[in-house]
Amino acid sequence: MEQYQLNAEVETLKKQRNAIILAHNYQIEEIQNIADFTGDSFALAQKAAEVEEPVIIFCGVHFMAESAKILAPEKTVILPVKEAGCPLADMVDAEGVRKMKKEYPNAAVVAYVNTSASVKAEVDICCTSSNAVQVVESLPNQQIIFLPDKNLGQYIASQTDKEIIIWEGYCITHHRVSVEELDKVRAANPGALVAVHPECQPEIVAKADYVGGTSGIARFARETKAKTIIIGTEMGMLHPLRKENPDKAFYLLSPHLICPDMKKINLIRVLESLKNMEPRIEVPEGIARRAKKSLERMLEIK
Ligand code: 13P
Repeated sequence: MEQYQLNAEVETLKKQRNAIILAHNYQIEEIQNIADFTGDSFALAQKAAEVEEPVIIFCGVHFMAESAKILAPEKTVILPVKEAGCPLADMVDAEGVRKMKKEYPNAAVVAYVNTSASVKAEVDICCTSSNAVQVVESLPNQQIIFLPDKNLGQYIASQTDKEIIIWEGYCITHHRVSVEELDKVRAANPGALVAVHPECQPEIVAKADYVGGTSGIARFARETKAKTIIIGTEMGMLHPLRKENPDKAFYLLSPHLICPDMKKINLIRVLESLKNMEPRIEVPEGIARRAKKSLERMLEIK
């Protein structure tokens, strides 16, 4: 089937099912183009909590769709490819969090949204890359356990006076970017500015002109006077940046900035999921109730 036919079929079925399509900034172009709403993980969680449609087709990875289901339990939430996971989220489990809490009884626990529902159920509050420092600052505790991304944890530590106890996880995609790559791309593009995600290693963050989540990078790109910007986050982000800023040039900091999980969803899988209304995301009631508190606390902050 041609792409325009696929788009038309998705559109028709979406209306029949009374569904809304949400897509993360890292999704492939074809998916971002058919989505009703695209954004960073914070905006997608916020959107899921407020949309009217009874069906959400979530084009992203598992923890994002799971957060949508937790925030909107009465809705049917579908992740078109159920194997689209997040290796970073898999680096921590509920048992590990419980152990850490025992070790640091005075610490508050902040979980990046890139975690499972059972981890969210164990923590005080969630955060995304767009509000991590704010979330940490909002807590009365001086000691904060931050999990699971050690690079984001170090970035937070550099922005606050609080003591941050950091879990040793990392995003396999962002963690791969090297200083050599950054130096090389800078040398090849004199005058260009470098914007990176805080999941990159501290040496990369230290050399960047801007550090922020995908919505922050979009804002930076919009507002900067620079005409060439080097992007240090997943390649899917180039699509919204180029669409919104046709007068500016965007290059990827490293050819390795591809998240294989974000690339699992395509138009055919979206169409199938609309036809079959599968695979659905379900979260056990007890876990969902506790995880919801952590997510809602985060949403109240911004
Ligand atoms: P953002 O919250 O910046 O969109 O990032 C999501 C993510 O999973 C980064 O790897």
